[in-house]
Amino acid sequence: MNIVLGITGGIAAYKTPELVRRLRGRGADVQIVMTASAEEFVTATALQAVSGRPVRSNLWDQKAEAAMGHIELARWADVVLIAPATAEIMARLAGGAAPDLLTTLCLATEAKIAIAPAMNHVMWSNPAVQSNRELLEERGIMILGPEHGSQACGETGAGRMLEPDDIAAAVCAADLGGNATAGLLAGRTVLVTAGPTREPIDPVRYITNRSSGKMGYAMARAAAAQGARVVLISGPVNLEDPHGVEVHRVETAEQMHVETHRNISEVDIFIGAAAVSDYRPTETAPQKIKKQEETMTLKLIRSEDILASVARLDHAPFTVGFAAETENVRDYARGKLEDKRLDMIVANRVGDDCGFDHDDNTVDVLWPNGEKAFPMTAKSELAHTLIELIAERFESMRGDDTQPELSVISARD
Ligand code: PMT
Repeated sequence: MNIVLGITGGIAAYKTPELVRRLRGRGADVQIVMTASAEEFVTATALQAVSGRPVRSNLWDQKAEAAMGHIELARWADVVLIAPATAEIMARLAGGAAPDLLTTLCLATEAKIAIAPAMNHVMWSNPAVQSNRELLEERGIMILGPEHGSQACGETGAGRMLEPDDIAAAVCAADLGGNATAGLLAGRTVLVTAGPTREPIDPVRYITNRSSGKMGYAMARAAAAQGARVVLISGPVNLEDPHGVEVHRVETAEQMHVETHRNISEVDIFIGAAAVSDYRPTETAPQKIKKQEETMTLKLIRSEDILASVARLDHAPFTVGFAAETENVRDYARGKLEDKRLDMIVANRVGDDCGFDHDDNTVDVLWPNGEKAFPMTAKSELAHTLIELIAERFESMRGDDTQPELSVISARD
């Protein structure tokens, strides 16, 4: 996919080198076009280094125009993505003004245009900006975000640019026409569980664990980036909903189990990244438990194993577990792979220095006849590689399923 990435002058421009990496990681060729004010926030040198192409900014640059004129560039693009998109560029696009290279390209292209607005939340809610947004949407421009959260100005509200990974996922997975590829999981449904569960002891206390949900959310994003419809069943975490993913929030293991089975019928691939509580209190006290004796005993009962229950289904999806272990990681993981009859398991060591809540992870992936090790890398990066491996194994299993029929036919022949 050929993407013209237009960068305009907002503080979120500092995230664009990362956005370029994410787009290129999905196989896109990226040509950057910056406005003059964008250059106040990010350097052309950095962007040239990550995109591998000279950055364009000036409509009147004769040397650059001789190499690829702006009309040629407008034709080259499968998608013109503007991120961050300021209130100013939205107004120019709405009004059809073309005072610089980026706006000229937008008028001259037949490619799809997508914008990722980013601005102060009061600006975003201004009626002028909202009416421009509506107009652009009516004209078929794809509006990505913004999301709600803390802003560079110190305030909180809707106006934050979507995370680079979400923008790249949305642009690469959406049906944007041109030469856009649909992804390895196009047409598939993937269900991911993520985060911890909370098992209530009384109205103010619960049993939980250190899972942050980062790994599971990254898996959901990566599956969406490969074109899948993704359902994410999440325990309580402090993470934004990934863009384009259907999120169901739950608290307890029992709720996660019910919600999983409520959504499982159409699922092709199930990924159990949640750290589900193995036990829950046999009873939840209706009122706060008062301290009395020096010691106290809590009686616990086993929770239903969600992963094993999915793998046992008559028409089970391709089922991938995660194993969190503090020792003998691979041996225990292979035991779980076999006992729970999984198609694949992702084994990670957890401890103070790794696994839970960290941004990076290193894993061993095991399946019935093979395994592969993945070195320490960002969970967001790792998730993309894991999803590629899952898609590959899923396809090869489907191939195996059709094998007996084929051999019957050839025997008859
Ligand atoms: O969330 P992060 O902070 O990013 O951390 C990521 C992680 C360490 C939580 C993640 O990578 C991980 O390993 N998740 C699985 C944690 C876990 O519960 O492992 P386990 O070995 O106890 O369980 C094995 C598998 O059975 C898991 O797929 C789990 O989702 C599943 N399970 C376990 C118990 C249960 N009652 N139901 C289940 O489905």
